Amino acid sequence: MEYKEFAKYYDNFYKNKNYAKETEFLKNFIHQDDKIIDIGCGTGLHAFLLQKSGFKVDGLDLNKEMLDIAKTRISSNLYLQNLLDININQKYDVIISMFAVINHLKDTQELEKALMNLKNILTDGGKIIIDLHNPQNSGSKIDSYDHMTRTMEWQYDKKTKIENSKIIFERNGKKYIDSHTFRIFTISEVKQCCKNVGLVVKKVYENYDINKCGSSISKNLQFLICKGSL
Ligand SMILES: C[S@@+](CC[C@H](N)C(=O)[O-])C[C@H]1O[C@@H](n2cnc3c(N)ncnc32)[C@H](O)[C@@H]1O
Repeated sequence: MEYKEFAKYYDNFYKNKNYAKETEFLKNFIHQDDKIIDIGCGTGLHAFLLQKSGFKVDGLDLNKEMLDIAKTRISSNLYLQNLLDININQKYDVIISMFAVINHLKDTQELEKALMNLKNILTDGGKIIIDLHNPQNSGSKIDSYDHMTRTMEWQYDKKTKIENSKIIFERNGKKYIDSHTFRIFTISEVKQCCKNVGLVVKKVYENYDINKCGSSISKNLQFLICKGSL
């Protein structure tokens, strides 16, 4: 299911995702007066929680239906744009991109282009935090919450670094299917792409924990990136 059709179910289906913990992690990198943008903001839950803590957060997303929901909770600028083609006439102190947005890019060329675009809207001394999905192998899992059963199946091909996943949400006898193709980027690929565009990876975390270093075996990775030299 594309985000266009999935948007109205999104918040409900990801109700058990710990947005509060993720937002607390992000706050470690933000000062009170920083200008912030959430790239691939989706329905705007991180931006909303940051806004509740007094921060002003703009958002950008490719999908109008997701942004329409974000609009109901975020009072600042929302841009309907592709991160591969950003056209914003201002700079940000902190750029965040949460929950596998970057994994929607198809290869390292696109990753490099995206990073260059982010660098172009980053202030000198600014920070970029990107959150990447990092599966280790193929698998499946079933869980239940909020009167709903969620069946997840994913196939990860280590050679192509492509993960195809399917999540079936079932409630009241109705089924909704969310499927994705993600490019999984290694830590060294991200470091190299950053270097190629004059950015530098300062630190890699896992599981939204400031005290945990991310590695190739982490399930998710958060990269702290700053401007470097070309
Ligand atoms: C898994 S959702 C994450 C949404 C939000 N960041 C969150 O944590 O709930 C991925 C989002 O990335 C957006 N997206 C994917 N590719 C994009 C691109 N090239 N440019 C801008 N947004 C993109 C999708 O429209 C979707 O809203």
